Amino acid sequence: MSAPPRPRRSPASANLAALLAQATRRLARARLVYGHGNIDAREEAVILVAHAIGLPLSKLDSAALKKRVTEADRRRALALVATRIEKRVPAAYLTHEAWLQGLRFYVDERVIVPRSFIAELLSVQLEPWIDDPAGVSKALDLCTGSACLAILLAKNFPLARVDAVDLSPPALEVARRNVTRYRLGKRLRLVESDLFAALGKTRYNLIVSNPPYVTAATMRRLPPEYRREPAMALAGGEDGFSLVDIILAQAARHLTVDGTLVVEIGHHRRRIEACYPRLPFVWPETSGGDDCVFVLRRADLVAPGALQRRPARRPAT
Ligand SMILES: C[S@@+](CC[C@H](N)C(=O)[O-])C[C@H]1O[C@@H](n2cnc3c(N)ncnc32)[C@H](O)[C@@H]1O
Repeated sequence: MSAPPRPRRSPASANLAALLAQATRRLARARLVYGHGNIDAREEAVILVAHAIGLPLSKLDSAALKKRVTEADRRRALALVATRIEKRVPAAYLTHEAWLQGLRFYVDERVIVPRSFIAELLSVQLEPWIDDPAGVSKALDLCTGSACLAILLAKNFPLARVDAVDLSPPALEVARRNVTRYRLGKRLRLVESDLFAALGKTRYNLIVSNPPYVTAATMRRLPPEYRREPAMALAGGEDGFSLVDIILAQAARHLTVDGTLVVEIGHHRRRIEACYPRLPFVWPETSGGDDCVFVLRRADLVAPGALQRRPARRPAT
């Protein structure tokens, strides 16, 4: 005779803390790849569970953790966790939101998940390299994606008109949604363009760019989560610098005399310095280290021989 079924503990009696612990365990067991804003299984669980049960992150305090979760909410939360595990899709594409410097952005698979280190610099930290921060009247975000950096530019330089360029019309649709959310339509212009091509002779006090810079070798072995992002947002050609080279070659034509260029290039400091030995790159410290974002002044770019390019060393594979 088989044993009588054990009475099931009602899952409805579980509180939010228990649900989060369960979600964290499932995510941790699945050995996923993070790197899209959340650092580990616990953070990912918080984002997914809070979204599924409709709890704003700002309200996730110790009192909320003790509250009971309804069976319907529990099921919804664990279903979202299961989707994250089975489809290997970044959490931000499931919740349709990503946070950068305290701002929330709408995202979906038409744009990469915002995580640029430039965002950290778009405040007082850039001031040493900008002649007159209060006087920035024109700024450009090249390769804008969701428009996250363009919006941060507009917020941090309140007198500036901002142009935000992308070659991808689907990405620009997402950007439009975020620009509308922040009611910046009058000050922030979205432009479909291959880098500077459609900008005519416009000059900017400040140009920022987080272009595609992933090497061909790295593209070939991207973890599944990164393959969910648009390839054109990541792929930077054989050595990763195909767009960076163009930006360096053309930026001076679009900077004011005292203008500043800020570019993110992954952790490729050594290689880019080897390619351009005469450019006096400056590497501000970010949470990613001091090897991923460089700053140059227009004067640096127009100095004789400054752009002499040596072949890139073989990228690390
Ligand atoms: C690394 S993503 C950066 C997106 C956003 N700025 C961010 O930091 O989250 C690079 C973006 O460059 C765009 N892109 C790729 N090639 C381009 C080109 N030739 N001209 C303009 N934009 C380009 C892609 O569509 C993508 O949105």
